[in-house]
Amino acid sequence: MGHQSLLYKIADDPKELQQINQLNYQTFVNEIPQHEENEEKLLVDKFHDENTYIIAKNHEEIVGMIAVRAKRPFSLDNKIPNLNQFIPSGSEPCEVRLLSVKDEYRSTRVFYGLCKRLVQLCLEEGYDLAFISGTVRQLKLYKRIGFIPFASLVGEEDARFQPMYITKASFEKSTKAFQKLMENVTLNNERSGAHSFLPGPVPLHPAVKRALGKTPISHRSEAFLKEIEEIKFNLCRLTQANHAEVVVGTGTLTNDMAAQQLKRFKGDGLILANGEFGFRLIDHAKRSGLSFRTLEKQWGEDVSLKEIESAMKAFSPDWIWTVHCETSTGYLYDLKGILALSKKFHAELCVDACSSVGVVPVDFKECYLATSVSGKGLGSLPGLGIIFHRDALTSHPSIPRYLDIGLYAENGSIPFTHSSNLISSLKEAIRNIDYVANLRLARAVREAMEKWDVRIMGNQDYSPGVITIELPYGVSSRVVGDKCKERGVLLSYESGYLLNMNWVQLALMGYQNEEEVMKAINSIKEIIAPVKEIGYI
Ligand SMILES: Cc1ncc(COP(=O)(O)O)c(C=O)c1O
Repeated sequence: MGHQSLLYKIADDPKELQQINQLNYQTFVNEIPQHEENEEKLLVDKFHDENTYIIAKNHEEIVGMIAVRAKRPFSLDNKIPNLNQFIPSGSEPCEVRLLSVKDEYRSTRVFYGLCKRLVQLCLEEGYDLAFISGTVRQLKLYKRIGFIPFASLVGEEDARFQPMYITKASFEKSTKAFQKLMENVTLNNERSGAHSFLPGPVPLHPAVKRALGKTPISHRSEAFLKEIEEIKFNLCRLTQANHAEVVVGTGTLTNDMAAQQLKRFKGDGLILANGEFGFRLIDHAKRSGLSFRTLEKQWGEDVSLKEIESAMKAFSPDWIWTVHCETSTGYLYDLKGILALSKKFHAELCVDACSSVGVVPVDFKECYLATSVSGKGLGSLPGLGIIFHRDALTSHPSIPRYLDIGLYAENGSIPFTHSSNLISSLKEAIRNIDYVANLRLARAVREAMEKWDVRIMGNQDYSPGVITIELPYGVSSRVVGDKCKERGVLLSYESGYLLNMNWVQLALMGYQNEEEVMKAINSIKEIIAPVKEIGYI
């Protein structure tokens, strides 16, 4: 019956929802007579709009389903007075209903597959107790999985159900097979469901995870002062920068800090943009009240040194602000060339290098400012922002405290509360940076994908950290991304700008193992490559 190729997923397509109503009818009108027959042979559940349906699909056909809903009142609330007495205080219950598997697929395997996806969903959503009214015909099976009967039977004479509940603990205690399943799911959940190509959070080296688990220490302790000094030193060594400040926050914070610093220049600036993050710099500048001009291009369109030079000639800016890697496309600006131009025109260069530090070698020695983050190319967790600066900066009363780079510089990067765990994790992550491996991996992935004839943005000059696949309209990036997720491969596709462009991305950042990457690439191929055969690409 080809169970191997069944796809377990959350229903999200109108065609799937239609099939769910048909299957619901077959099961709960034809087979277990609970509802009246109707001509359409469709049964729309009373909680249909609030249900999350987990389905098993054989190609386009739904062969099994189960529905989850966490909103009270549950269906059982109408059958059991004071259901609350069975709910331990502080728990997050949900109700599981409408289990239905087509006749020819009735083997434990499909049920097992649905349960596996169900457990994953419950863990993701934080539900720790699931109620079900299980048909008495399958009581043994339910018990084997870990369901615990409570209260008396409910339902009509010919459709009797046993109210049951299952908790994570009872599920874990159940049969060996299911115990193993639980371990797998927990493990997968820990690893975010298998292989991650997200640009954050990125896969973590075990040493990074270990460092994160250490007991936190005070940001005023000697040990912490030493630790932060060491990391600042290592960051400077990695980037040739004169100074580095490590702040608690994300890339957006560091760019707001940069904007405050640029505000102190009297003259205009020039901002380059050819993608989401270049345009965000323009937004940062506007919100901070900077005076500036822009050189704007279409997303992914080249911004040549010649064009930058003409703009600089025309505007004589005091400063120039650009991203290094435009994360939305993978476009890598020619930083050396731009720095040479900024020197030629006596402008200061400020670089948003959030997604390039740790991925490609950088040299910030002569950059006025550069910003980055812990949780992308550097391979640690999100939560730390980094500001590299060429000159010794002093605090300025016109700048809000949290945004004042000088205040950080004067206080060894610790003017306020800091996180020892994030610092320790980042320190470990930096040890594992390997530019050669990054390049080799990106080349191997690009090469493999080029054989599928899909449209990949850019070329070998793009960042080895970001590979963008342009899907044709009619092949939804959300559907492709969801399918990959179902297969345990996490692509970057859920940001608004990626959905708008209909792109999916692979970020090769963090702790990536070449063999596992190539395996994951093959799973993506199974989902993407057939698109070509139906003539879209
Ligand atoms: C180049 C660039 N700049 C800024 C940001 C914003 O960073 P955050 O989301 O950490 O605030 C990102 C995030 O992806 C980025 O890639």
